[in-house]
Amino acid sequence: MTASPQDEIALVPLPPTGDPDTDWAARSMPLLQRTMQEFGLAFAGLHIGVCLHLEPKTAVLVQWLLRYGAAVTITGNLGTTDPRTAEVLRGLGANVIGGRHDDAAAHSRNLDAILDSTPDLILDNGGELIERLTQGVPRSSGFLGATEETTTGGARVRALPVQPDFPVIVINDSPLKLLVENEYGVGQSIVQGFMNATNRMLPALEAVVIGFGPCGKGVADTLRHLGSRVTVVDVDPFRSLEAIMSGHRVTSLEDAVPTAQAVFLSTGRPDVLPLDQLLRLPDGAILVGVGHEPNEADVAGLASVAAHTRSLASSSDVDARIAYQREDGAEIVVLQGTKMINLTAAKGNPIEAMDLGLSLQAASLGSIARGRAAFTGAYPVPSDINLTLAAGLVEILG
Ligand SMILES: NC(=O)c1ccc[n+]([C@@H]2O[C@H](COP(=O)([O-])OP(=O)(O)OC[C@H]3O[C@@H](n4cnc5c(N)ncnc54)[C@H](O)[C@@H]3O)[C@@H](O)[C@H]2O)c1
Repeated sequence: MTASPQDEIALVPLPPTGDPDTDWAARSMPLLQRTMQEFGLAFAGLHIGVCLHLEPKTAVLVQWLLRYGAAVTITGNLGTTDPRTAEVLRGLGANVIGGRHDDAAAHSRNLDAILDSTPDLILDNGGELIERLTQGVPRSSGFLGATEETTTGGARVRALPVQPDFPVIVINDSPLKLLVENEYGVGQSIVQGFMNATNRMLPALEAVVIGFGPCGKGVADTLRHLGSRVTVVDVDPFRSLEAIMSGHRVTSLEDAVPTAQAVFLSTGRPDVLPLDQLLRLPDGAILVGVGHEPNEADVAGLASVAAHTRSLASSSDVDARIAYQREDGAEIVVLQGTKMINLTAAKGNPIEAMDLGLSLQAASLGSIARGRAAFTGAYPVPSDINLTLAAGLVEILG
């Protein structure tokens, strides 16, 4: 039997990019390779606009999309772009917009530029491209639809005053994604980022995790397995109970704050750690970002009342550790402005977690590209895609 054109394309390994991290990731992403074998030809001739963390696993997905004949215009999320990955993507032929040090205004312009390029499909992470599309931004005549990657983006899309008149598959709705990426992937990589950024010892660390969704659970469980004393704060009684059953101490924010040595912000909601609580943290407490947007703690408020502010990091990355000294002399240390520490001080989620996450993306985008999506508005990942990928991952990891 002769191989089909898409088999022929998928079965040839991706050529080296010259970037060791991208090529290393590509070696361990067999699920994505299989998924592209099934869906790749659906992308031929399409232009895909992407907002996603620019890191090596993303580069592998883009490599596959380009190989199957798609054009890609891509920007990163706020503050998480790996400059080397951006260079790799440019070398591969993707149109890369923006960079790591863009502020919120520049990031907003980058998103506009993605849409100005009138893509046929959108891969979004945070829901801001999809939001703009519901506000009348001009689209390509053949616009097909979008996928949304994360918890915060799914919530943003569902809260829009006008629901999208095109299909949006919310990858984060997949129970597979919540388990493998948000819980186990984020749990490992956030702790890795904290260790890289601080070189502090985990046993005996008094850690407070705010928000016990899948991401917070992963972080809390990983810290505890490595010897930290973990306190969880969550406003949802069910999630609080789950934290107790997982072996964590559970209490209120007010009770947790005075003894916290490191606070992990994993609610995905703004203003959960307000200034009055920041003023009660002990000297040396460290704030660590987990959630999608760096808006969970009132760092601007802390800065405005600080008697003294200084960078504790090298001149090449002054935001890595900023110490805010309060009037009482205590210093609060903020890592990377509370941007996601697994992307700013580590290598992002583990490769296997993103092999799954990006396979969910490729299959969902591919099903929209085939015109299979007979719906408009936000929709979960189709169950046949979840089942196929779960079985595939069991085979690969088992
Ligand atoms: N860093 C990464 O690589 C990465 C990966 C995936 C998701 N994320 C992001 O992480 C965040 C969390 O994701 P999730 O899937 O765990 O979300 P989730 O919505 O399932 O869980 C958030 C939890 O926070 C709790 N919460 C809300 N407001 C609170 C408050 N004021 N005080 C205490 N608890 C509060 C909720 O009750 C909930 O249990 C999101 O922003 C998501 O987009 C980050």
